[in-house]
Amino acid sequence: MAISLKVNGTSRSVPAEPDTPLLYVLRNDLALNGAKFGCGLAQCGACTVLVDGKAVRSCVTPIGTLGGAEITTIEGLGTADKPHPLQKAFINEQAAQCGYCINGMIMSAKELLDRKPGATEADARAALAGNLCRCGTHNRIIGAVLRAAKEMGRT
Ligand code: FES
Ligand code: FES
Repeated sequence: MAISLKVNGTSRSVPAEPDTPLLYVLRNDLALNGAKFGCGLAQCGACTVLVDGKAVRSCVTPIGTLGGAEITTIEGLGTADKPHPLQKAFINEQAAQCGYCINGMIMSAKELLDRKPGATEADARAALAGNLCRCGTHNRIIGAVLRAAKEMGRT
């Protein structure tokens, strides 16, 4: 059957069953490969996207539960020419090693900064506590989130 989803501001129709995880549809049907498959069990955060502004684990979110919700993936944040302040900050802070966890980190951080633009280090650590980085880049990642928070406070 076909299901309609609103992804990065565009309505998309996908041939999938309602219990299909959003992550599979994003990657396999819509060629949006920014969200990653890490654990598939809501444990690592690599697959994080925003649904109506809230960070969710797309690996355990059935598309049939989404209705007309606004889904935002990392591809909806910025472009190479015009990166989102979070994307810029992660580049400037060199906040990655293998990079596998980073898109999920950025999406969780986006939820935080949209909700609390003046986020503190403690806020950033709490917001990203469920996003795992097996390369151990957490300190740089937190530095990047705080850099973006400062940048966004100026604009
Ligand atoms: S792949 Fe979804 S939380 Fe790990
Ligand atoms: S940079 Fe490798 S898992 Fe985070």
